[in-house]
Amino acid sequence: MSNHENLTIPRPDDWHVHLRDGEMLKAVLPFTARVFARAIVMPNLKPPVTTAARAKMYRDEILAALPKGLKFEPLMTIYLTDASDADDLAQGHKDGIVTAAKLYPAHATTNAEAGVTDIKKIYPVLKRMQAVGMPLLVHGEATDPDIDIFDREAVFIDKILKPLRRDLPDLKVVLEHITTQEAADYVSAEGENGKLAATITAHHLLINRNAMFMGGMRPHYYCLPVAKREKHREALVKVATSGAPMFFLGTDTAPHTRAAKESACGCAGIFTAHNALALYAQVFDEAGHLDRLESFASRFGPAFYGLPVNNDLITLEKSKHSEGDIKPILTGDGRQIVPFAPLSPVVWRIAER
Ligand code: DOR
Ligand code: ZN
Repeated sequence: MSNHENLTIPRPDDWHVHLRDGEMLKAVLPFTARVFARAIVMPNLKPPVTTAARAKMYRDEILAALPKGLKFEPLMTIYLTDASDADDLAQGHKDGIVTAAKLYPAHATTNAEAGVTDIKKIYPVLKRMQAVGMPLLVHGEATDPDIDIFDREAVFIDKILKPLRRDLPDLKVVLEHITTQEAADYVSAEGENGKLAATITAHHLLINRNAMFMGGMRPHYYCLPVAKREKHREALVKVATSGAPMFFLGTDTAPHTRAAKESACGCAGIFTAHNALALYAQVFDEAGHLDRLESFASRFGPAFYGLPVNNDLITLEKSKHSEGDIKPILTGDGRQIVPFAPLSPVVWRIAER
């Protein structure tokens, strides 16, 4: 049901989050769990979550950190390395401990040092995943430092993803956090058969690369893949709001401490969990397709992963005013996380239950 002032949809899921561990986990988890019923939890901890046993321990840590009264199901992933064990992955998937495996090309991003150095090295593992129907989640950036940083996603698609999908056509693949027209076109063209999909973040729908350099360097707008030119942002808005089922919500909310961001070598990652759904609503509303938020946020992800749509509902409301700047979030050990600040006012919010 939708009208101009509010929108009620089945409770959404977040198909790409970084929850971290320890005090950081405790600080950020409530924001995600308050709104989203389930989330695909990224495995790039230090050390990374490389086995089903580790994934189970990490799931237990997340559930233990969950505030009382909140229902939330973490969907666990395994971090692929050159040494990944196909039997362990397949068994973890069969046992319901792990939902998917994540490919970080070595050195592509935060905590990707242990990532895969050559996709061919994990072909036996990927073949097994294809056989058991376990999705491969991809950080799609080429890692050759000679490639221009703004071209790395498009080069990855041509050089790695296309050959991979030719070799393993039945492997289910999610190209995570897409940032380019090339990715939008490729997934639109190839995603019809339900084997290829893409997540899109709220921040990549809201900012282009200028945001990082407005009057100076703005580390809180820096993430990987890095935001691209305006024409790419427009291409993302177009496919996200198109009603095409191969595009769905994945925030890639990625908390770092303020000190780690505001540094001579600031970390990649944007924290959006505090108001992610409202940010998406803003984008869909401005595009004139608020009616399509429901499928993007609540239906297409479950369909791709073969899971039921959530039963309960959530209501968003549009108000006359934005809530203004959001203060830094404090971790239990006194560190700050600076939330994403959109460049124009957000007038959507979650209605109080
Ligand atoms: O900006 C990013 N931050 N991109 C990633 O791929 C990883 C993430 C993180 O873990 O901080
Ligand atoms: Zn991520």
